[in-house]
Amino acid sequence: MNKKSIKDVDVKGKRCLVRVDFNVPMKDGVITDETRINGALPTIKYLIDQGAKVILCSHMGKPHNIFTEGFGLNKKEKKAIEALPEAERDAAKAEYLKKALKDKEKFSLRPVAVKLAEKLGQPVTFAEDVVGPSADAAVSKIKDGEVVLLENTRFEAGEEKRDENLCKKLASYCDVYVNDAFGTAHRSHATTAAIVEYGFVKTAVCGFLIEKELSVMADALENPVRPFVAVLGGAKVADKLKVISNLLEKCDTLIIGGGMAYTFLKAKGYEVGKSLVDDEQIGYCNEMMQKAKDLNKKLVLPIDCMVAKDFPNPIDAIVDATATDIDKIPADCEALDIGPKTRELFANELKSAKLVIWNGPMGVFENPVFAAGTNAVAKAMTETGATTIIGGGDSAAAVTQLGYADKITHISTGGGASLELFEGKKLPGIECLNDK
Ligand code: 3PG
Repeated sequence: MNKKSIKDVDVKGKRCLVRVDFNVPMKDGVITDETRINGALPTIKYLIDQGAKVILCSHMGKPHNIFTEGFGLNKKEKKAIEALPEAERDAAKAEYLKKALKDKEKFSLRPVAVKLAEKLGQPVTFAEDVVGPSADAAVSKIKDGEVVLLENTRFEAGEEKRDENLCKKLASYCDVYVNDAFGTAHRSHATTAAIVEYGFVKTAVCGFLIEKELSVMADALENPVRPFVAVLGGAKVADKLKVISNLLEKCDTLIIGGGMAYTFLKAKGYEVGKSLVDDEQIGYCNEMMQKAKDLNKKLVLPIDCMVAKDFPNPIDAIVDATATDIDKIPADCEALDIGPKTRELFANELKSAKLVIWNGPMGVFENPVFAAGTNAVAKAMTETGATTIIGGGDSAAAVTQLGYADKITHISTGGGASLELFEGKKLPGIECLNDK
């Protein structure tokens, strides 16, 4: 790792603005998974012990993304905005956003402040805003070894827009900027990169979580121990175009499951019934299969699957499912998980691996009828003796739910961020930091 960390700078008595990823899942105001809070603790505790003034900031959810999240909007309202002339849409959106933000408790970091105080065994002052009077007061009063948590950075429209004034104001709160938000390191927002890129803070270093994530994942990809098996799942090929291509170059075997396998199978000439197929990516799938051949890499696809007449609605509704070979998928059925033969095939491929990375479930794992494929891969990961890395997101949740988490070498706290690493991309939140 060629970037400076908190150990490379003097933080004693300094105001450290620490960007963490406290975007934790929450149900009815209760945090349902504390992994990301726990992930940030080593950095926070170190800074406290060193006598730094710790000012934490993070986003939570997508409060501004009212169109994709439907935050505060029903379908009718969304349609009404979309139907407006373009010139009027922004004002209408702003109106709706105002209304939506009334419901902002849903996106508040307050419950995280309470949880963090509990974990640290010391008070955490919660600022009701990001750069407003409450934050000003909290920052001006902070003493060495104390902790302040600012409110959700995305309550500021300037966060995602990399607003200069927001960056300047936040920079005035600190002497040292620390990025420890691995889960958000692929975002180029005000608090993740712009504050440093604009030159408003000079000392910009990473925390222990980013250091750990990079040392495990980037090193594994740069110098893989072989055989290196990559397992990819998830619904859409389009989401993983660059990942597939980059991993094919690096790994020895690429296993593809999940919804995206059916576009590959269709490209191979199979009839896949009502299974998810992205017709636009058939050419790409053929290209990737050719690339695997040219590079002498093994690309492993399902040989059977679990099919049902309809996608379960609600998603966890118990439905009838049948195991079917991939050349016999009925025209009126949809493949929703890998089948028992494929479970065995994939597990066998994993047995002799020395390095395994995995991203994306093998089927609709939210439904117990279609969870066996994802579970089988999770179990096989624990039985390989290989270095095993899970790239966050659904696969991480599945492994944790199954109680296998402590048997995995590394479970990333970043879904999107680890995928971008697997794509071979540079992450802006890391690139902007001071070189060693
Ligand atoms: C995540 O949950 O993957 C990170 O917190 C990033 O969140 P975002 O996708 O809303 O930027």
